[in-house]
Amino acid sequence: MSKRTIVAMPGDGIGKAVLDETIRLLDAAGFEADYVEGDIGWEFWKSEGNPLPERTIDLIKKHKIGLFGAITSKPKDAAFEELSQELKNKGLVYSSPIVGLRQHFGLDICMRPCHTYKGNPLNFIRRGPGNTIEEPAVDVVIFRQNTEGLYGGVEWSNPPGDVYDALMTHNKFVKNFGNTPKEEISVSTRIFTKTGTTRILRAAFEHAKKYGYKSVTVCEKPNVIRETSGMMFKMAEQIQRNDFPEIQLWNTNIDAQMMWLTKNPEDYGVIVAGNMFGDIVSDGFAGLIGGLGFACSAQFNPETGIGVFEPTHGSAPKYADYETSIVNPIAMVESACMMLDFIEENDMAARIRKAVAEVIEEGHVRTYDMMKMRGTAQVVNEGAASTVKMTDAIIAKL
Ligand code: NAI
Ligand code: MG
Repeated sequence: MSKRTIVAMPGDGIGKAVLDETIRLLDAAGFEADYVEGDIGWEFWKSEGNPLPERTIDLIKKHKIGLFGAITSKPKDAAFEELSQELKNKGLVYSSPIVGLRQHFGLDICMRPCHTYKGNPLNFIRRGPGNTIEEPAVDVVIFRQNTEGLYGGVEWSNPPGDVYDALMTHNKFVKNFGNTPKEEISVSTRIFTKTGTTRILRAAFEHAKKYGYKSVTVCEKPNVIRETSGMMFKMAEQIQRNDFPEIQLWNTNIDAQMMWLTKNPEDYGVIVAGNMFGDIVSDGFAGLIGGLGFACSAQFNPETGIGVFEPTHGSAPKYADYETSIVNPIAMVESACMMLDFIEENDMAARIRKAVAEVIEEGHVRTYDMMKMRGTAQVVNEGAASTVKMTDAIIAKL
């Protein structure tokens, strides 16, 4: 097989530490690849006024596969404040480079698996009958529509006249907001398309079928958000009926789902949702399996074969400058395994996952989060494994 080129985008803060270690692990596992560095993140916003420079887009277009660490994002005003002096009068507005990447390449399928690792001290436990303690085995894969909905970026404060006029044609708007001055109104839209909705639903059902999950749960709010959530559920019914009759279709509301999270998380298989609810429900499930140190994700476009693989955590700036990095690399490592699956290096992915699982189950090497410590720079002197040491332990198991 020809050698791959992977676009490595460390981004900001702890992104670099977890990505460097993951690449070291991939090398050790025998994954043959060249890595080119893609610039992304806060530094490039400050110095160039663009956190996602065109050259990075070009690299991804060319090589198709990206591994991404994490970036720092800040609100509009703070972003402007930190912009380099000579760029300040250019009318630049900060927007998230991750969202930019998703939208530029139509990475509309976001997949976030959450499964319990045996022996992880962070596993969710609950009371069972009598005075028993149960540790339910969670094995859920969340499919989140990644480019539309509430994160689609179509929003205004003090909306322009024609937008306002259009809103005034809706009787609910007239009734609830018609007397509010336009300047006081902010609007964030939630747009779902049939194309985007079909793609995420099909990806979810296909995954359920391929990996033997018995159910697909649409987690939205169709009883209230009738047009968008309602459309998604109706389309799911149709797809299930026509093409996946062997898979059960369940329907939960996002709010109720968050409550059931701790009651019966083991009952769910594949979950599919729009952009924001998918974000929420995936963080919720991630909390049951160890939190941000374990939560991985893939975002891809099945047609173009372009995919970017990243942990769901951010840049954790308060830990970024520690002399020895203390953060857990497993979320990034598992994201790299999703990359390997995507490019059909399934055996290698399985081998790395097995090594990770063994290290966790043995419990000799644990990062600070697994030891429930506060993340100070001292934790490595107090028995917690550093990022490097955890990676070493996984490599040793390969
Ligand atoms: P965060 O995920 O960076 O950190 C929150 C806390 O989670 C940390 O303080 C740390 O205690 C823990 N944590 C995160 N990653 C960990 C790891 N690998 N191992 C162990 N513990 C870990 O979220 P926060 O603090 O809300 O945001 C920091 C910056 O990151 C912000 O600028 C935010 O906009 C950005 N962000 C970027 C994301 C991305 O690049 N995809 C996602 C989320 C936030
Ligand atoms: Mg999130």
